[in-house]
Amino acid sequence: MLSYRHAFHAGNFADVFKHVLLIQLIRALQRKDKPFRVFDTHAGAGRYDLHSAPTGKNREYQQGIGRLWRQPALGPELNEYREQVRALNPDGELRRYPGSPRLIRNLLRSEDRLTLTELHPGDYPALKAEFAGDRQVVVHHADGYASLKAFLPPLERRGMVFIDPAFELRDEFDRLVEAVQTIHWRWATGMAAIWYPILDRGPSQRFQRNLQELAIPAILCAELGLYPYDRPAGLHGCGMIVINPPWKLDETLSRLLPELLAALQTGEPGQTRLEWLTPAH
Ligand SMILES: C[S@@+](CC[C@H](N)C(=O)[O-])C[C@H]1O[C@@H](n2cnc3c(N)ncnc32)[C@H](O)[C@@H]1O
Repeated sequence: MLSYRHAFHAGNFADVFKHVLLIQLIRALQRKDKPFRVFDTHAGAGRYDLHSAPTGKNREYQQGIGRLWRQPALGPELNEYREQVRALNPDGELRRYPGSPRLIRNLLRSEDRLTLTELHPGDYPALKAEFAGDRQVVVHHADGYASLKAFLPPLERRGMVFIDPAFELRDEFDRLVEAVQTIHWRWATGMAAIWYPILDRGPSQRFQRNLQELAIPAILCAELGLYPYDRPAGLHGCGMIVINPPWKLDETLSRLLPELLAALQTGEPGQTRLEWLTPAH
């Protein structure tokens, strides 16, 4: 039974982190002329109304995009992210928030493609409607993990898989390790980005050790900890694993992660982490 609905969390600090990084990954794919394909395996609804009942209930976006919305001086990457959100809110009031599918779609060139999978029967129709008639986007009501075997490698041979699970299942980290193996076997040159939550440190650290044991090269790990990890309960931070990251992404992130932390700061001491889990060569 799927009960997670992203509408309750849309635009929160974790979305800001993942979407800022996602934009950088798509921009990097555009450095070459050849077309690419992006797979967003856990796509969600595509866009969110921040004033709707579920989103308005928790108001998590106020600690996320809400903090960046009116900050005067943002660095280029944070500014680009905010411009993408502004494009959905032309009157200047923060109301609509783009999910990863809408963000990715808005960055595609005419020759690039996007494949979306979403399993939840409540979110799938909204996602389908968001891209109705869009010939660059294919939407499947399907299991994103199982679909990897069918979809990879893409005809374009360039692009990336973005995996942003709901983490409702106890074995989600194990499924992710399996997915990384599948991606590597079927498409070793493809880029992959995997988001994960940090509630307490143990599960995400085990996940990283398991990834290291796969002996797949070029795995970069970036984390943003917004709240002290020794404080009980809640989402303390989150991370992104990037496999085959674009050239110099590590340099960009070493500047960008502290900027993100500063822009989102809550008054509590936070931290960032950037580490190669396995070397690029
Ligand atoms: C964190 S949300 C995705 C948010 C979205 N990527 C974004 O950034 O806007 C996770 C989504 O995965 C969906 N989901 C859960 N299990 C799935 C599976 N096995 N395959 C595809 N989607 C799944 C959930 O219904 C939920 O909409």
